[in-house]
Amino acid sequence: MPPMPPDSAAPRHARITRALHWLTVILVLSTIPAGLVMVQEGLPRPLQDSLFLWHKNIGPVILILVILRIAARQVYPPPPEPASLPRILVVASATVHWLLYLCLVVMAVSGIVRVQAGGYPIELWDGLIGGMIGKDEALAKTAMAVHAQVRIVLIVLILGHAGAATVHGLVLRDGIFRRMWPPV
Ligand code: HEM
Ligand code: HEM
Repeated sequence: MPPMPPDSAAPRHARITRALHWLTVILVLSTIPAGLVMVQEGLPRPLQDSLFLWHKNIGPVILILVILRIAARQVYPPPPEPASLPRILVVASATVHWLLYLCLVVMAVSGIVRVQAGGYPIELWDGLIGGMIGKDEALAKTAMAVHAQVRIVLIVLILGHAGAATVHGLVLRDGIFRRMWPPV
């Protein structure tokens, strides 16, 4: 068997893919805790308002980044998986990646619907998408339930994905982590 190429020789995701990935990570990993904290009772009002402001206005940015990533993927497809990676892991990781994209889209869309149907503002975005959905309490409730349920799926997927990436990067050192690193 030929020797495995060193990590640094492994092909990487395109620079744009890596930059979009890590920017999404930063935004998602601030949006989720903000969402979880801002709904707690007894928070000081200014803190709660700031968290809501951040959460509602960053969500649409995440949606745009996901759309850009899926578009960039068509132009710069991911490098081929290393032959050493068992087929089942290739299929599992692709499934998790697509579910991550799907959950982010559902979270962002359900968040926008929940807020607009509830009759609340999305400050930075109302100039563009304000009034898209009229006030509708039943719709707001459904969107809120979707947002709350899918959040759990998203958090589980992120933990699994980040855990697997860490094992690849620190234990297996098979080049998978370096496909997405450095960010730029
Ligand atoms: C990918 C983007 C998003 C993620 C990952 C996310 C995540 C979360 C999480 C984890 C919570 C806490 C839920 C709970 O404990 O009940 C939450 C709540 C909330 N999110 Fe998001 N969210 C996203 C986008 C948005 C957007 C775009 C909006 C609105 C423009 C929004 C509006 C809300 C609101 C209003 C709540 C408070 C719960 C409620 O009253 O419905 N979110 N979000
Ligand atoms: C907010 C959390 C995250 C989301 C939504 C996310 C999403 C994704 C997606 C969708 C892909 C597939 C890229 C593609 O081929 O289109 C990917 C790849 C990757 N992610 Fe993440 N990621 C997150 C966090 C992390 C973290 C924390 C790490 C590191 C510990 C990480 C490491 C990687 C690596 C190494 C790849 C490349 C895997 C490969 O080439 O097969 N990700 N990520």
